Amino acid sequence: MVRQFLITGTLILLAAMGCQEEPTGEVTIDEGAITGPASPTPYALEVPAYFPAPIDDPENPLSEEGIALGRHLFYDAGIFSTEGTMSCATCHKQELAFTDGFGRAIGVRGEPGLRSAMSLVNLAFNPNGFNWDGSEEKLWRQAIHPVEDMLELDNDWEEVIHKLREHEDYPARFRAAFGIDNKEEINQELTVKALAQFQRTIISANSKFDRVFYQNTDFFTEEEQLGADSLFFVENVPPGTLHPGCGHCHNAPQFGDNKFKNNGITDVASIYDFVDKGRGDITGNPFDNGKFRTPTLRNIALTAPYMHDGRFATLEEVIDDYAAGGHGVENEDPNITGFTLTDREKRALLAFLNTLTDESLLTDPRFAPPE
Ligand code: HEC
Ligand code: HEC
Repeated sequence: MVRQFLITGTLILLAAMGCQEEPTGEVTIDEGAITGPASPTPYALEVPAYFPAPIDDPENPLSEEGIALGRHLFYDAGIFSTEGTMSCATCHKQELAFTDGFGRAIGVRGEPGLRSAMSLVNLAFNPNGFNWDGSEEKLWRQAIHPVEDMLELDNDWEEVIHKLREHEDYPARFRAAFGIDNKEEINQELTVKALAQFQRTIISANSKFDRVFYQNTDFFTEEEQLGADSLFFVENVPPGTLHPGCGHCHNAPQFGDNKFKNNGITDVASIYDFVDKGRGDITGNPFDNGKFRTPTLRNIALTAPYMHDGRFATLEEVIDDYAAGGHGVENEDPNITGFTLTDREKRALLAFLNTLTDESLLTDPRFAPPE
């Protein structure tokens, strides 16, 4: 079939060139050859002036075609799961700021995993490794594992690559994105690189906070202002004053410094007793046990339940836990001090956290499933 098409194609091409000669019949035809455009169009991320420069990835430069391919892959349940029931978007839903609404993510076999699905916004600005424990240094390599997770045990990446090579549409997309000539060149690395290219474009920078603070096009209510100035970002208080000071770790503009910390949520007898050792499992240093990457609080009102294991259902619970001030484990961060809030202050802190929601992200057609 493919062979026939290629021969016909060659004839048409020869005819179009005005060449009268019949093909000799000895032309070797490459069954896996892909035709169509092969020069990716470089793409520069649109970064708001108030964001730092994105972290470069020279191994995986962005192109329009790479991003488009990544978006197709991100939403393609047929390619990535055996039953055709699961894609990246199953656990990373646009309307939930690319989380899934579950405490711990539910895998293809219907059982919860260890950790909560992370939001995927502003990944291009994270220098400290991906996943809650920073286990994956490169964004593109991060996608290898979830694909394995989405497959039944008897299935693997080879099957995914096979489906991609035999697909009617993907080979041309891979050629357009990476300039390859043959289906055999479609591999795991190009697949996850395309996924990473799409994910790097997911930038969230248009919350009410951004409009008030950076764009000067909106105003905080009195309550939101109180939450920002006197609670979230509070600095310069008399020594010994206890205050939330969330901004020490969740600092603007990303609202998460991506550093590994123990924020005091787990009551264990010693640093050796964490069920999920987090960063400690990566570095092998027991002092890193129970430390997790400080995540962004952008869109936090949409991404419940909270923490690496989804232990808190609401932001009220989160605030109450921080107010209680940790459990005295030796590697708890010194900024976990405990504090008391009046009802009015608690409402104000919540109101401020709600200004971090970027509604435009949730319906941005560039991040939605492709038609
Ligand atoms: C079953 C649900 C599930 C599926 C499906 C899934 N993820 Fe995730 N994702 C998670 C969980 C859980 C984490 C946190 C993992 C950890 O810390 O160990 C995560 C973390 C991530 C991160 C890290 C974000 C950060 O800030 O470090 C990225 C990137 C990501 N996923 C991309 C993807 C891509 C791409 C796919 C599809 C190939 C995918 N995910 C499929 C649940 C899922
Ligand atoms: C010492 C640094 C530090 C301070 C101070 C801090 N946090 Fe955190 N925050 C973290 C870390 C680290 C995590 C991830 C912990 C985990 O998942 O185990 C986190 C997680 C969170 C989460 C869950 C995010 C998610 O995606 O599930 C919320 C919500 C949050 N913090 C809100 C706050 C608020 C509100 C304050 C102020 C009252 C605050 N934080 C103060 C370090 C800090």
